Amino acid sequence: MGKDVIVACDFSSAEEVYAFLDRFESRPYVKIGMELFYAEGPQIVRELKRRGHKVFLDLKLHDIPNTVEKAMRVLSGLEVDMCNVHAAGTVKMMEAALRGLTEGSSRNGADPGACGTMSAAGNRPLLIAVTQLTSTSQEQLEQDILITQPMEQVVASYAEHAKEAGLDGVVCSPLEAPAVHQRMGSGFLTVTPGVRLAGDAAGDQSRVTTPAKAKELGSDYIVVGRSITAAEDPVAAYEQCRKEFIE
Ligand code: C5P
Repeated sequence: MGKDVIVACDFSSAEEVYAFLDRFESRPYVKIGMELFYAEGPQIVRELKRRGHKVFLDLKLHDIPNTVEKAMRVLSGLEVDMCNVHAAGTVKMMEAALRGLTEGSSRNGADPGACGTMSAAGNRPLLIAVTQLTSTSQEQLEQDILITQPMEQVVASYAEHAKEAGLDGVVCSPLEAPAVHQRMGSGFLTVTPGVRLAGDAAGDQSRVTTPAKAKELGSDYIVVGRSITAAEDPVAAYEQCRKEFIE
């Protein structure tokens, strides 16, 4: 599975995201989050796929198993390359999500070639679980979420639950990628936001590293938003991320 830089397109309208992506000669792997999806609906996914982008649909589902299963069945029709749920929803919820996604994909007769990223189960999108948000600090974990174990241990345990449910990997900070790979094996994907080019502001993120450090720590995919989208020259910032992380 090739390493890649995923650009978090946290824009509020389709016009903004197209104007941003039109600056690139290449077709970067993009992440569509809640802001854009809630503003534009499924059409934004279809259009980005039509334009040749791989799409990570980052909606972080977290609800009762039956609801998540049905929602995933619907999302499977969009033929994205990657989508996700919160591991905190329990193993049962993650199993339901996987079932919805797998059955939905086979019912749609999804073309294996259409999902650019082949997953363990074949012609369905990769399904990964958010462990702990990269904006959450150890202090917040303890005081707000009432989990008293060290972050790294919590992330590794949630990753174990995700694997038990049959998922392909987790979302975590690059700082936790070594612990996840050590416990779950190198084939279990670590998709890592919380990445900043050297000198850029962390903003609301807590557990951050550079693309070069993420490579060193063994991340499989880095998710980069503001270091690219808010850069004076986004294309140069993207190329810098690729250079540090992939080359
Ligand atoms: O701008 P920045 O690089 O901080 O963007 C990170 C992106 O990754 C955001 O779209 C955010 O929603 C997402 N994300 C995250 N932490 C997670 C899961 C997703 O920051 N654990």
